[in-house]
Amino acid sequence: MCSMTANELRSKYIEFFKSKDHVEISGRSLIPENDPSVLFTTAGMHPLVPFLLGEPHPAGKRLTDYQKCIRTGDIDEVGDPSHLTCFEMLGNWSLGDYFKKESIAYSYEFLTSKKWLALDPAKISVTVFAGDENAPRDEESAGYWKANGMPEDKIAYLPASDNWWAAGPTGPCGPDTEIFYWVGEGLPPVGSNKGTDKDNWLEIWNNVFMEYNRVDEKTLVKLPKQNVDTGMGLERTNCILQGKTSVYLTEVFQPIIKTIEKLAGYTYGSDAEKDKSVRIIADHARASVFIIGDPKGVSPSNVGAGYVLRRLIRRAVRHGRKLGIENTFLADLSVSVIENFKNAYPELEQNAEKIKQELTAEENKFGQTLRKGEAEFEKLLPNLAKNPKKEIPGRVAFRLYDTFGFPIEITEELAAENGFTVDKVGFKEAEKKHQELSRTAEAGKAKGGLAEQSEMTIKYHTATHLLQAALKRVLGDHVAQKGSNITNERMRFDFSHPAPMTPEEIKKVENLVNEQISRNLPVTMEIMNLEDAKKSGATALFGEKYENNVKVYTIGDFSKEVCGGPHVTNTGVLGKFVIKKEQSSSAGVRRIKAVLE
Ligand code: GLY
Repeated sequence: MCSMTANELRSKYIEFFKSKDHVEISGRSLIPENDPSVLFTTAGMHPLVPFLLGEPHPAGKRLTDYQKCIRTGDIDEVGDPSHLTCFEMLGNWSLGDYFKKESIAYSYEFLTSKKWLALDPAKISVTVFAGDENAPRDEESAGYWKANGMPEDKIAYLPASDNWWAAGPTGPCGPDTEIFYWVGEGLPPVGSNKGTDKDNWLEIWNNVFMEYNRVDEKTLVKLPKQNVDTGMGLERTNCILQGKTSVYLTEVFQPIIKTIEKLAGYTYGSDAEKDKSVRIIADHARASVFIIGDPKGVSPSNVGAGYVLRRLIRRAVRHGRKLGIENTFLADLSVSVIENFKNAYPELEQNAEKIKQELTAEENKFGQTLRKGEAEFEKLLPNLAKNPKKEIPGRVAFRLYDTFGFPIEITEELAAENGFTVDKVGFKEAEKKHQELSRTAEAGKAKGGLAEQSEMTIKYHTATHLLQAALKRVLGDHVAQKGSNITNERMRFDFSHPAPMTPEEIKKVENLVNEQISRNLPVTMEIMNLEDAKKSGATALFGEKYENNVKVYTIGDFSKEVCGGPHVTNTGVLGKFVIKKEQSSSAGVRRIKAVLE
């Protein structure tokens, strides 16, 4: 085993796969575009969904990257030594190129070769799919593992609940083979594998053989090509490489934890409850810095990704107070985070000021009411103690939310610390009554799910290109895309423009788009290098990272944009374009909501 840092591991991984003819692509934004089903990028494969479904990728068939991800499903577990909301995934993909044989050989070589990670083969075991009505028992993968030297008793055959991977209820999926590292004492006992010992084998890498597409609950179809999608957890693998028992003890978190120690006058490791608070702060601070610092950065708000960010910041602040930190502190922590990750994610340093400002503003907002809210909560305790259900009424939880800014999840956490639960149904009812804040309910909703490439979202995607080109023609070349969001039912487009549009301008834009639709313009795609694409006059998103080779979508003589696709092939299928609303989004940015009828 070699000792290396997370930064070194990230580079080695990419270097290894480049040596196997993979092209490095850049990781994408944490905020998925044109994917209504998720709030954040949850896996390295997420931005690659269209390509796994068959769309050609401009960089080719063998790809590798590192991707920042956010998963909030386990947010309540954060605080234990292993859970994280923000993590990095190292990935390699074959888009219809190699399959199981090479995928397994590459993984094993990277993990065990002296030149690469040099992990002890005796401490590695794997799982493969046991088979069910959807796909056969994966003897093929097991055979390749054996050919690479994996003893038979280190291969566990497990059911779909363990060895079938999908990012969401629909989309590309397939059986996987997962790779585990022994984290128990000494060497694993003979015959031990994930099937016999759930606790001491830690998953580090997942190779998914994506040859299926789940269309709906009942329908699974074969994809046109057999793909490989792998994801290796950077923090976990780094942790085992360093022989540490917790990711929080590695250099990924230690600089942040050292800063917390200084601010709180507390030494990590002296008190279990306080350590938990330190870990929550460290994880949430890092996640918040990544979310705000993203090129499509989000601000705290009461809806969607902004609400998740608000929850993360407010929970961190509350745990800061528990450690005795009275002043604002998240901006100080952001310095440690940015310093540690600026090479891999230069956008963090570029957005350093914004990150500090947003964190401090939100901290101030909540800090002012936190003490009062907690005092209010404590006043309730004697009465609540008499309540046989040990439940906090919904209207009380709503008051804490509405008046003191306690996200419901914080009230739940506070309640749990005092042996209570919260009447969430009652909370929802109180919230519903409160017309103005009803949008809040939406915030937690969009978990799970997967990039949806339905016919309708594809149409909206093409309509977005038409809209952007029409706006440039009507309002001027200063119009630049600031954001886009598409669902099956509507599109939303944010763009730079200093003033509200006049009704005449709105009509003109609408007419211009409809004209292009009735002209039945062909939509064509070309792959070219970024420089040529720019020279050809294609619109590219400012601040977005692109590969050397990009796809350029051209709509007749009307629009040319760098874009991943997919799109319809002819504008004639779009129907009627109607602008429903034109409003302000933020300073200097307007927002259009439109539908296709
Ligand atoms: N896409 C594989 C994983 O996230 O595990």
